Amino acid sequence: MSDVRVHNFSISLDGFATGAGQAADAPFGHAGERLHEWMFATRFWYEMGGRRGGSGGADHTFAAMHGPGIGAEIMGAGKFGPPGWQDDLDYKGAWGANPPFHTPVFVLTHRPRPSIEMEGGTTFHFLNATPTEALEAARKAAGGQDVRLGGGPSMIRDFLAEGLVDHMHVVQVPILLGRGVRLWDGLESLEEAYDIEAVSTPSGVTHLTFTAKRR
Ligand SMILES: NC(=O)c1ccc[n+]([C@@H]2O[C@H](COP(=O)([O-])OP(=O)(O)OC[C@H]3O[C@@H](n4cnc5c(N)ncnc54)[C@H](OP(=O)(O)O)[C@@H]3O)[C@@H](O)[C@H]2O)c1
Repeated sequence: MSDVRVHNFSISLDGFATGAGQAADAPFGHAGERLHEWMFATRFWYEMGGRRGGSGGADHTFAAMHGPGIGAEIMGAGKFGPPGWQDDLDYKGAWGANPPFHTPVFVLTHRPRPSIEMEGGTTFHFLNATPTEALEAARKAAGGQDVRLGGGPSMIRDFLAEGLVDHMHVVQVPILLGRGVRLWDGLESLEEAYDIEAVSTPSGVTHLTFTAKRR
């Protein structure tokens, strides 16, 4: 069976994966871009934007694991767009005409709508379903490849609580956000189910990899 993976999921020292006050011009609320500055400096990120440059060190090596072997993504309504996007029937996500996924993407929402085919191989499907049901649909669409959980923190927390995550790469960024949405709430003793490694890099972040023990 294919794996369920999380990559490049960035949290503050106090565990927040997004700040307070999410809006169209502030997708991470008051956190701004601070959670992902480590990634913006990598060759991985430059190449995603069709540019040359960026660092090729450890941050790049971790970041670049995001894409290979992934056949579908599941994301939450809070990643797909700012609060209230469901009221705009023409809204097509936060990434423009050619989103960076290039696979089927399943958006969890209590207000589903018809699928939207975008340029570059991304099709957004909208699902009001349990994590297990959503995973079944994504696995089918992934054609034997792995399924990535794209976030945000609320949906990843739900999948972790149900024991559905095989690999998780969390990046702990040395900032304190104080408010927002936390990843870890309600996941007491999660560490018992995983082999965990930590690697700190010169940029100041710590990459934590969680590998499910049951595999
Ligand atoms: N730090 C990172 O690396 C990272 C990565 C990705 C995203 N983010 C950020 O995370 C934030 C979004 O995270 P979030 O925790 O607020 O929200 P989220 O996890 O993206 O989405 C949660 C919402 O999805 C819908 N949903 C979730 N499970 C569902 C289910 N089983 N069935 C139907 N609908 C379901 C519900 O929305 P409705 O009830 O409205 O339908 C729920 O409120 C954004 O700011 C984004 O930029 C951060």
